Amino acid sequence: MSRFANMSLRTKFDLIMSLLLICLFLSAAYLTYRKQQALILSFARDNARNFARQIIETRDYMSSVVKDEPETNYSLVPQVVATRVAKRITSGSPYYVRQVSLRYRNPENRPDGYETARLQEFDRKGGRETSSLETVDGRLTFRYLQPMVAVESCLACHGEYDKAPAFVRARFPRGHYSYGYRTGEIIGAVSVSIPMAELYRQIGTNLKQDLLQRGIIFFIIIVVMGTILRRSIIDPVKQLADSITRVTRTGSFNERLTRTSNDEIGTLIARFNEMMEELAQRNQQSAEADARYRSFIEIAHSAVVTCLPDGRIIIANQKAVDLFGLPRKELLGRNLLDFISGGVSGKELFATSMVDGKLRPDVETSLRTVRGFRGRMIRVEMAIAVSENEQQVLFTVILREQPPA
Ligand code: HEC
Repeated sequence: MSRFANMSLRTKFDLIMSLLLICLFLSAAYLTYRKQQALILSFARDNARNFARQIIETRDYMSSVVKDEPETNYSLVPQVVATRVAKRITSGSPYYVRQVSLRYRNPENRPDGYETARLQEFDRKGGRETSSLETVDGRLTFRYLQPMVAVESCLACHGEYDKAPAFVRARFPRGHYSYGYRTGEIIGAVSVSIPMAELYRQIGTNLKQDLLQRGIIFFIIIVVMGTILRRSIIDPVKQLADSITRVTRTGSFNERLTRTSNDEIGTLIARFNEMMEELAQRNQQSAEADARYRSFIEIAHSAVVTCLPDGRIIIANQKAVDLFGLPRKELLGRNLLDFISGGVSGKELFATSMVDGKLRPDVETSLRTVRGFRGRMIRVEMAIAVSENEQQVLFTVILREQPPA
């Protein structure tokens, strides 16, 4: 039998339940983690989108209202204003915001590899935004880009060189690639990045709390289910098994169990009690029959013994005790064949009572000599009758003393 088959019901149940608990727990953990991660990504995307929008709005507004002011105050260049605003908005948060362009004027606005690739993609395919998880300097980072499209007002400084304000022309000479944009063309993008570590740390704690709660709930469920199952199935079955063991050990049919339910287990216990009742009754009946038989052979005029097929004597009456001259205690257990002179085997003696393993009801008589009290040889007529009870075949032998020949 396998290891599992050898386990007790209780251990099996505990094992199955624990496995179930672990599976439930792990799948809950996985699903919760997935859900929270999706939530956090969409949260990060929403935030990035808002930052980008605010910056683009700021720039568009500045671009539409500033005229010659940057000439004297460079801080009023739309790009510069937007950059400063972005810095202020994101200060104290893990968000990092830049404005980049493939044809940049300020080297600080040079796109990195990821941004270059995304900007080229916008140029080719268009699109309103893009985001993904990237590893930057070994750290998992959420990256987001929203393109900026040139509108009429931008062209004042990003259109033809000749129409650009003097301060722009002074800084960026004719032929610089930051000129020559047309409306609708993508001029750059707002780039937002957030290291995920911060957000994950948040997931981590939420996840732990969540799992702890779930774990406790699962544990309670399992303990409660276990108790119910133990009370309603395992304990009664164990009691039943113990009872049956006691019955086989003691042979007493007095075992009764208390029925506590009306389910299958209850029925099983009821049937067990009925069976015990029945067996006790039969036991009683056979004991009575036995007693009747014993008192019956006591009043017989001849010696009567009951033997097993091998000749062993199991019941003997007083006449038999007198005939063989042995106390009853000693006579019982002795072999009848030992008393028959001339030597005869059990097979031979009982041969006519059994044919091909089947009993023959007719009584067989034969004349034999037996060794009796003090070695006296006695001639007897032996009548043998065969009978069968639940467990074995029995031979009843009547020994009628004959006058000596
Ligand atoms: C008043 C002139 C002016 C106007 C109007 C203007 N820009 Fe600029 N833009 C500049 C200057 C100057 C820079 C370089 C800023 C710096 O040195 O950081 C710049 C930089 C940029 C950059 C950063 C990349 C780079 O070249 O360094 C982007 C993107 C940009 N502008 C987009 C726009 C858009 C979109 C508009 C219209 C909504 C616009 N600009 C309107 C003057 C202007």
